[in-house]
Amino acid sequence: MAHPIPDAAALAEFAGRRAALSEAAGEAILLVPSAYVHLRNVDTSFPFFQESDFRYLCGFPEPDSLLVIDPLTRQSILFVPPKDPERELWDGLRFGSAGAKEFFGVDAAFDSDDLGKELPRLLQGRSVMYTPPPADHPLKAAIDSAVAAQAKGLVPDLRPATVARLRRFKSPRELGFMRRAAAISAAAHVAAMRAGRKATHEYQIEAAYCFSCLQAGARHQAYDAIVATGANACCLHYQDNNAPIAPGDLILIDAGCEVEGYASDITRTWPVSGRFTGPARELYSLCLQVQKDAIARLRPGIGMRQAHIATSRDLAEGLRQLGLLSGSVDEIMEKKQLSRFYPHGTSHHLGLDVHDVYRLPRDPKIDAPLEAGMVITVEPGLYVQSHDLLAPAAFRGIGVRIEDDILITADGHEILSAACPKEIAELESILQES
Ligand code: GLY
Ligand code: MN
Ligand code: MN
Repeated sequence: MAHPIPDAAALAEFAGRRAALSEAAGEAILLVPSAYVHLRNVDTSFPFFQESDFRYLCGFPEPDSLLVIDPLTRQSILFVPPKDPERELWDGLRFGSAGAKEFFGVDAAFDSDDLGKELPRLLQGRSVMYTPPPADHPLKAAIDSAVAAQAKGLVPDLRPATVARLRRFKSPRELGFMRRAAAISAAAHVAAMRAGRKATHEYQIEAAYCFSCLQAGARHQAYDAIVATGANACCLHYQDNNAPIAPGDLILIDAGCEVEGYASDITRTWPVSGRFTGPARELYSLCLQVQKDAIARLRPGIGMRQAHIATSRDLAEGLRQLGLLSGSVDEIMEKKQLSRFYPHGTSHHLGLDVHDVYRLPRDPKIDAPLEAGMVITVEPGLYVQSHDLLAPAAFRGIGVRIEDDILITADGHEILSAACPKEIAELESILQES
């Protein structure tokens, strides 16, 4: 069970993606290396995560592999780690070339030991589309020398951008994984809330969150959880998660597990006391209203940049009313004053990567409209740094962010993380009954 075997629906999706990629490649043979194991020290490695495009195109779960796609013959070939009883004793079973061919829907599979013999044969006289693997990829030397010796030439690697375009649209099968990831994370956020009032340190809240994910079978997080108390919430990618919690603090948790490699990404902010009061309540209420309005705007046709500008203007108006910014919204935006409190974007795509499809070529002049089947986050936040002496003292050191995962549908949107409470009354009731 360590590596489930893909079912027919999964194999059909992998094949369809390879066919779509082949259209873009023309006559050039595509080489797509897998990820490889990164040593942490001596013989201990960092957790292995498969390279997302490789996973998307064939689903093969092992490191040190190579997918070859020939758009002319429409054949796909895998090179995979050879069966090796000694290594399998330590690291677990390998599929080997026979298993790769039998279970992963490719036309042929070879042991990676045979790369030096088989790859030159496949590349003979052909153009090749690839980006040389990183220096410490175990197959780099064999791949690069086969290309250098046999290929007719290299053509620009269109694969990252082409696959990114495909990956923007999630199939029903992918959405099933994303719904499950969002549901598990939502329940884990609630578990964290329930543990929150008794916690003395951030890591105890993180423990409750992770316990809930693991109990539900989600062994991996899509990114390291951010569990930030008080002013730590103003550090956007805070990772220490070890600070003591003070009774009046807000806690910001930005955490999402993954299911079958598909990410969720949820942020909730709540008061350890069980009651939103004073400036924290004001900032939270503003962020919540703006976030709900931002989600309400989402439908096919709206651009992510257009949506970000609308959300930014709403935050600016709210901060103006709270006395944290002055002047008109136009002036605030023109003078870029909002970034003092809102230094990040409102949305990013979500999928196999938490910041998905980042290799999509971006033309700053074009605000590509959202389309049905895309999944993005909506995550406005407000951060008043402790050292911001221009801000009213009562607001300093408060950070709030609220983040949900949104599927764009033909007639609007669906909130995949809707099971995670965010209304003040809901949060207060969960916290107070804990
Ligand atoms: N967790 C990273 C982000 O929200 O973008
Ligand atoms: Mn996010
Ligand atoms: Mn997040």
